[in-house]
Amino acid sequence: IQPDYNSLSQWAANYVVAKINAAKPTAEQPFVLGLPTGSSPLGMYKGLIKHYQEKRVSFRHVVTFNMDEYVGLPKDHPQSYYTFMWDNFFNHVDIDAANVNILNGSAPDLDAECAAYEAKMKALGGVDLFLGGIGPDGHIAFNEPGSSLSSRTRIKTLTHDTIIANSRFFDNDVNKVPKTSVTVGVGTILDAKEVLIMVNGHNKARALAQAVEGAVNQMWTITALQLHPKGIIVCDEAATDEL
Ligand code: GLP
Repeated sequence: IQPDYNSLSQWAANYVVAKINAAKPTAEQPFVLGLPTGSSPLGMYKGLIKHYQEKRVSFRHVVTFNMDEYVGLPKDHPQSYYTFMWDNFFNHVDIDAANVNILNGSAPDLDAECAAYEAKMKALGGVDLFLGGIGPDGHIAFNEPGSSLSSRTRIKTLTHDTIIANSRFFDNDVNKVPKTSVTVGVGTILDAKEVLIMVNGHNKARALAQAVEGAVNQMWTITALQLHPKGIIVCDEAATDEL
């Protein structure tokens, strides 16, 4: 528990940098990092960029897999997660574009796209560290309430609550928010060697209470983190209001 969003973000950025550096990644044995979008990780991305600028870390031998993407938004749409990642992180560090993996929500065969994504992660020996945030309803990636806790990368319909929550990025117009996504599954996330979840703000307090004190269940998919031997939550004080 950190006092505020800034310390939470620094904590997470420091953790990621320490993990990458400890692994001493090479071209043959890259560090495999799972990445989220959303407002929660923004401060952490700023922290990572600063660490890079001050030469404390390099992303040259880091391979990334993003958690999810909207279905049907072109890559260059301002609200695609592709645009988010390049604007907020990749364009500012030394990552090789060939090492960036983001699900293509406009792929002609989405099932094949999802299967290939899983296969690529597996071929690299799995994800070393999966970072994430959570929705106010406790969803992780786009694993909405009711998602199987052993789910893999697949197409997922967004709940009405998520569409409303995300409409803030689409001129507050729910009609402009895509209704489906492609997302890694809960099982995909649990397969990572470590999982680090960032939670901030009072509107996440109920979800955090479920995550930590609730029973493991598919209606609050973040509760699956309790099953992971190295699942870490870093949060701010405001998010602890319901603990
Ligand atoms: C979306 C993303 C999730 C993210 C959630 C919360 O639903 N698919 O990965 O955790 O939003 O976003 P925010 O951090 O903006 O609250």
